[in-house]
Amino acid sequence: MSGDKLVVQNLNAWYGKTHAVQDISLSFPDKKATAIIGPSGCGKSTFIRCLNRIHETQPKARSEGKVLLDGSDVYQADPTEIRRKIGMVFQRPNVFPTMSIYGNVAAGLKLHGGYSHDEIDTLVIESLKKAALWDEVKEKLDQSALQLSGGQQQRLCIARALAVQPEVLLMDEPASALDPISTARIEDLIFDLKNSVPVIIVTHNMQQAARVADRTAFLYLGKLVEVAPTRDLFERPTEKLTESYITGRFG
Ligand SMILES: Nc1ncnc2c1ncn2[C@@H]1O[C@H](COP(=O)(O)OP(=O)(O)O)[C@@H](O)[C@H]1O
Ligand SMILES: [Mg+2]
Repeated sequence: MSGDKLVVQNLNAWYGKTHAVQDISLSFPDKKATAIIGPSGCGKSTFIRCLNRIHETQPKARSEGKVLLDGSDVYQADPTEIRRKIGMVFQRPNVFPTMSIYGNVAAGLKLHGGYSHDEIDTLVIESLKKAALWDEVKEKLDQSALQLSGGQQQRLCIARALAVQPEVLLMDEPASALDPISTARIEDLIFDLKNSVPVIIVTHNMQQAARVADRTAFLYLGKLVEVAPTRDLFERPTEKLTESYITGRFG
């Protein structure tokens, strides 16, 4: 469909002989959060890692197919630039342990270069605000990121991803290592963030998908089984396989 921010066509991905993603076509519109659900090992992480070309950095990994960002081919572009435009947040908050809170958020800006001191300051503050962390850290920006709680560290990673002004945000089970209160904060955040940047979130938690996502895609054994508005997918799935999964018959 035209107007989609990110369009995936016939994507396949392998690790050696393991065919982890099998001919998936899926589009992601602006201003929406899309959840990717499915049992462990069905290719959710591999799929989203192909979208910003992180997949290819792993041993024996390769992919085929098209990924278009605003119509232009991600696989014909500079991978570093693609990883800036399509940001990623991982399951475990991967804060840079030797850096301050401020330093963590500024890191990507310094890496990509071209920002003045004042611009960096402004973007760090804006990003911490967008990540709903500013009020908790504004008095201690120069302290180590490691003294933050797990939930705060994850919001710091979100701020770091936002600082470089991505056009799409990928999140791979961003709350699965967090307590329920931190999880709720991350979910609220996703709900707000999708208005400025489309969010693609992998989750094995169906309630979470129902809470945060406008659309949900169900993957099974490397294939896309069904994608639909979240409510439709959970209340009246068209595929038997989807129904079995969401009613807890496997997975
Ligand atoms: N780094 C890797 N090397 C080899 N095989 C992998 C690697 N990562 C994942 N796989 C395999 O690829 C398939 C899909 O895995 P993954 O994308 O991690 O699934 P999910 O995120 O849905 O749990 C699985 O069979 C898994 O064992
Ligand atoms: Mg995974």
